[in-house]
Amino acid sequence: MSDQYQTITRTGPGTPMGELMRQYWIPVGPSTEFVRDGAPTRIMLLGEKLIAFRDSSGRMGVMDHRCPHRCASLFYGRNEEGGLRCVYHGWKYDADGNCVDMANIPERQHFKDKVHTKAYLTAERTGVVWVYMGDRAQVPELPPFEASFQPKEGVGLRFIQRRCNWLQAVEGDLDTSHVGLLHFGAAKASAGLDNSRLDLVVNRAPEYKVTETPYGLCYGAHRPSPTVPGGTYWRVAHFLYPFWIMPPVASLEKNIMVRAFIPMDDEHCMFVGFESQAYLRPQDDRVRVQGAYIRDVLQPNTTDWFGRYRMTAEAENDYLIDRDDQREKSYTGIEGIHAQDQCVTESMGNIVDRSFENLAPSDIAVARNRRMLITAAKAFAETGKRPPSMDNPALYGAIRGGYYTTTEAGDWLQLHREAVEKLRQAPAPTPATVDA
Ligand code: FES
Ligand SMILES: [Fe+2]
Repeated sequence: MSDQYQTITRTGPGTPMGELMRQYWIPVGPSTEFVRDGAPTRIMLLGEKLIAFRDSSGRMGVMDHRCPHRCASLFYGRNEEGGLRCVYHGWKYDADGNCVDMANIPERQHFKDKVHTKAYLTAERTGVVWVYMGDRAQVPELPPFEASFQPKEGVGLRFIQRRCNWLQAVEGDLDTSHVGLLHFGAAKASAGLDNSRLDLVVNRAPEYKVTETPYGLCYGAHRPSPTVPGGTYWRVAHFLYPFWIMPPVASLEKNIMVRAFIPMDDEHCMFVGFESQAYLRPQDDRVRVQGAYIRDVLQPNTTDWFGRYRMTAEAENDYLIDRDDQREKSYTGIEGIHAQDQCVTESMGNIVDRSFENLAPSDIAVARNRRMLITAAKAFAETGKRPPSMDNPALYGAIRGGYYTTTEAGDWLQLHREAVEKLRQAPAPTPATVDA
């Protein structure tokens, strides 16, 4: 792999991209996964082996899995009153990583004050536990995504593990031309599709506009609308530092959502989706047609470092591909949008060899995003220069992706921003409550 691509693929401690990512809040798991005084959970995040636990008061601790005494794993620890006790010699740590007891040492020889385990700052919002792994004294606010501020019952949450590098998963959402093929390749214009599907199916080869923004990157795929005379069908998506995307999976009006592919290590990532109630409504044609939600069947979690949120359809069973179905009904023979995406991105290999690629005009957002990330990661490593969103997460608040048809002429990005602004003037959403 060229050095350039190494820069954006590797996210472990000390790597340029890894250090940049650590300056942002990162979702760890749903709040419900961590029970008060319950068993500690193994968490793999940015190549670090961590232990997460909820203490007796409901506070979350997320820390290095190694006990700072002689490195036994705190996974086997006892989650006792107010902290996690290592079972080897009984040293105990609170949620901030302070050593609060040394059970195998006479009291007068204790040096608890000098022992700390590496524990990260945690927060909870909208039913999700977040962690901040950065080193800045001024810790930023949690990102104010529109989807985070729907009423709590209105936010659909999904965690799904993907066995490939985080960036090749992200790049699936920077390439909307695959939607008309991978996901809707078998749909016919005569099959009674609604307009949004028809737009995808009549013309499967859009053209692209792409531009960098203060929060990351925005692209619009466009093609002449087959249903509105003189109209253009747009599919607009955003990449937001450091791993968030807002792809156009629903109409602009309903697409109150954001998702991320968060590196577990360089060969595994965790899809995290926040999706509003409007987006998930069961009578929504999109959900009914794609069946994406009912078919995202997960295996039971195990305690392994990579045991959380694995899909039932996976590489070992060829994603349950049905060749008859592929011939006669669906394009892939694989059920469910997510499984289809999972299949193609994992099939590239855990870390894709990009020297083998032949990029096309449809990959313009993918290529531009790589360049942008390489530049940003290097600049941060070499000069400390920060992308604007690192200190100002408010930049995330007024952004939405989605698809729509317009007959208006003018600057595409300006028109898009105006359309989003108009929709956001609808009744203000209620901030969700903290779910500790
Ligand atoms: S290794 Fe944990 S208390 Fe000794
Ligand atoms: Fe897809």
